[in-house]
Amino acid sequence: MKAVVYQGPEDVAVKEVPDARVENPTDAVVRITTTNICGSDLHMYEGRTSVEEGKVLGHENMGVVEAVGAGVSRLKVGDRVSVPFNIGCGTCRNCVHGWTSFCTRMNPIEGMDGAAYGYANMGPYDGGQAEFLRVPHADFNLLELPEGREHENDFTMLSDIFPTGWHGVELSGMVPGDDVAVFGAGPVGLMAAHSALLKGAARVFVVDKEADRLRLAESIGAIPVDFSAGDPVEQITEQTRGRGVDRGVEAVGYQAHDPAGDEHPELVLDNLVKVVRSTGGIGVVGVYVPQDPGAVTEGAKQGRIGWDYGTFFTKGQSMGTGQAPVMRYNRQLRDLIVAGRATPGFIVSHELPLDQAPEGYRNFDDRVEGWTKVLLHP
Ligand SMILES: NC(=O)c1ccc[n+]([C@@H]2O[C@H](COP(=O)([O-])OP(=O)(O)OC[C@H]3O[C@@H](n4cnc5c(N)ncnc54)[C@H](O)[C@@H]3O)[C@@H](O)[C@H]2O)c1
Ligand SMILES: [Zn+2]
Ligand SMILES: [Zn+2]
Repeated sequence: MKAVVYQGPEDVAVKEVPDARVENPTDAVVRITTTNICGSDLHMYEGRTSVEEGKVLGHENMGVVEAVGAGVSRLKVGDRVSVPFNIGCGTCRNCVHGWTSFCTRMNPIEGMDGAAYGYANMGPYDGGQAEFLRVPHADFNLLELPEGREHENDFTMLSDIFPTGWHGVELSGMVPGDDVAVFGAGPVGLMAAHSALLKGAARVFVVDKEADRLRLAESIGAIPVDFSAGDPVEQITEQTRGRGVDRGVEAVGYQAHDPAGDEHPELVLDNLVKVVRSTGGIGVVGVYVPQDPGAVTEGAKQGRIGWDYGTFFTKGQSMGTGQAPVMRYNRQLRDLIVAGRATPGFIVSHELPLDQAPEGYRNFDDRVEGWTKVLLHP
């Protein structure tokens, strides 16, 4: 089968690899209809992870069940499904409590809880930027979708970024009527803004410097804040009459940068601590890593990021972090899509055949104007 393979920094290729197949009785194989390129893939693409060459990428997958193992009873061949990026065993302590993003059994790396498809340090699983994908514990992991092709561009956000954006808002502790600041207007930040509005936020500020992404934020009713035009904290403080916002969401991650493009891994965390009111909450879904050999400071190479913990404590703020447990939310978010209340597909800018994945990666990584979210159709 054809698949997108990591070959080294800024180098992915579409290659022939062995077919995905049922290896365990609880596996299914999914024929991929849509698979997205994610901002998380860019950390690997830019050579900022330890992902091995030859890895098949892709953790935002959906498609149709092609084959099932003898132990699969809930799903059958022909079912249309969304594949959460987390791979859960379904029976460990964290899975049982709804924290499939911290499954204690599926990632063989000592000390690392949580597994995913096609990702650095997340276990030996191939990704779904390919014609087919093997899904372990299929009955547990897969989400059924209405048959056909309807809502494809909305449903494809259910494997990761719509639940991730929702989770960022959830972690912030938002309640209806809150003002929220989302840092990052990439796909995840835009999904967080969409989620906060669906959950009844009074006002949602979205901070970025990319004009096209800020325009998309504005198009759904959020207030765009351009950090290249002035300090985003001052801009938001002014618009909240000095009070700041109730909640903040971090949707940027460890490669946060200033308007000139220089990296400052503490920058967004510091801005959130400043702009969120005392006793407010912060949800961090942008990724931070324990080892980053390409980091700008010695500390950050070991995951030690010098952010303003002192002010965070003094303001009595709270913070939630981590990979999103997709299954906590994906059923409800699917039903919001079916009911016409949620439309996460509004961020889709490009739909390409699998063969054009290298072009998709290049343009999305360069944040070329208009390349907001790239879908691949194998
Ligand atoms: N926790 C999870 O489960 C999960 C899931 C998916 C993605 N992620 C992570 O979420 C993050 C965002 O993903 P994405 O797909 O939107 O990526 P992206 O790279 O497309 O978007 C990041 C955006 O942040 C902006 N940005 C950079 N510095 C900034 C700053 N100082 N202030 C405000 N904005 C700034 C960039 O201009 C860009 O538009 C990544 O770190 C990704 O790995 C986490
Ligand atoms: Zn993703
Ligand atoms: Zn588990």
